[in-house]
Amino acid sequence: MTLQWDDRYSLGHEKIDSEHHIFLNLIIEFDSLSKKGVPKAKLIGTLKEIEKYAAFHFICEENLMADCNYPELEQHTKLHQHLVATLDDQIFRFIGGTSGATEVFEFLFQWFAMHTSSEDKKLVSYIASQT
Ligand SMILES: [Fe+2]
Repeated sequence: MTLQWDDRYSLGHEKIDSEHHIFLNLIIEFDSLSKKGVPKAKLIGTLKEIEKYAAFHFICEENLMADCNYPELEQHTKLHQHLVATLDDQIFRFIGGTSGATEVFEFLFQWFAMHTSSEDKKLVSYIASQT
């Protein structure tokens, strides 16, 4: 089965959903490139792209949280910071050869599925309740 964007990942917030879609597509691209056996430098470049995009997307979400005085802003922001730090470590280990592409992909996908279905879902429900 090929992993792809699915409506079950939609939370009902246009901006958040479109950014999640791009984030998931980047993760899928990393997985398919690694299966094609492209040079490691290309895979490292794709991981850096994912890391930068994640950082961008998290700031967008944090701004949305600030706009609506989201009560869990601090806790949610800490989860974002933790992901960026862990991803940085994963990339470092991938570059050094102590972590493989499959391990990095599984970490990214699990994080995406878990975070969007729990924390981001709570945020979107809160935004909807305020409008
Ligand atoms: Fe989030």
